[in-house]
Amino acid sequence: MLNINNDIKKSSTINKEFYVNKNIYQQIINKVFTHSWQLITDKKTINTTNIFPFQFLDKSISEPMIIIKGNTIKCISNVCTHRAHLVVNESCNKSKLRCRYHGRTFDLDGKLNFAPGFKKALNFPTEKDNLIQYYSKNWHQFIFAAIKPKIRISQVLEDIDQRLPNYKFSNLTFDKNNSNSYFINTNWAIYCENYLEGFHVPFVHKGLTKDINYDSYKTLLIDNGVLQIAQASKNETAIDNTDNIYAFYYWIFPNLMINIYEWGISINIVEPISIKRTKIRYLSYPVRGKKQPTNSGSSLDKVEMEDQDVVISVQKGIESLAYQVGRYSPDHERGLHYFHLLINKYLNDIST
Ligand code: FES
Ligand SMILES: [Fe+2]
Repeated sequence: MLNINNDIKKSSTINKEFYVNKNIYQQIINKVFTHSWQLITDKKTINTTNIFPFQFLDKSISEPMIIIKGNTIKCISNVCTHRAHLVVNESCNKSKLRCRYHGRTFDLDGKLNFAPGFKKALNFPTEKDNLIQYYSKNWHQFIFAAIKPKIRISQVLEDIDQRLPNYKFSNLTFDKNNSNSYFINTNWAIYCENYLEGFHVPFVHKGLTKDINYDSYKTLLIDNGVLQIAQASKNETAIDNTDNIYAFYYWIFPNLMINIYEWGISINIVEPISIKRTKIRYLSYPVRGKKQPTNSGSSLDKVEMEDQDVVISVQKGIESLAYQVGRYSPDHERGLHYFHLLINKYLNDIST
């Protein structure tokens, strides 16, 4: 439907219908996001509690779920199997889950424990009275959750570990002050597309361009991921034990960006709200003893604003009568082309 040619040299970009057709947008939510892994939180941030409720992709899928932290991490539904009250309202530390509507309790693995008023109920309880099980995954301290995972992300996560065996992931700590949520009036994919090419860097990010050696900028494709590597122009901003690398920019299909720097990592989670409104959760994780650089020409808040400016402009252009499709730069837009091939693949997947 969206007509992406496997050969980037021949292909047009994705059809504009993808950005403006509400039916396609809903199919993307159902066929891509419902099958995706989402980064929810990290073990250190929920350190003092073992029960962490959240909405899986709030505003699009909005599925109430709970992370349970015990010897292992589990993810279960937060919807009571009696009459659907949410079981947990806030993070807490408990050995049972108790629904406050009619007092039903569940074990931490979601199994029904006690149901007041149900003594006379026949054929009760059954499996259906337990909380639904979802999926979770750990990578270093980070916790991912999924409803029906189909989009593999392990290869990208392994790639990070292989390229950065000495990186101090265990010393990363969430920095609330340098983290933020942004709401922008664009389709979620336009934000990802901009991230997936360094082509615009010398044009849009003058400050950043001084810090990197743009001629050595590389794009590598991984299973359901894209890695862009920028070399540092100055030694002091290079990541230790790497070949003078300024940043590894990892993107994981469909909506996660993990950026690895000398000072720590930043994470962007791109959450669709509607066909043309998007939330960006920007999370900063400096390595202990270091800080995310601020107030410089290449600081991430400045780069973020420069990127948001261009994606808002693209949204306006996409909606115009004048635009239908464009072409890919074979030299610079392989990551973008791969993103569109993945979109096409999942949209056409009839098993979902
Ligand atoms: S809805 Fe939870 S006990 Fe009734
Ligand atoms: Fe950018």
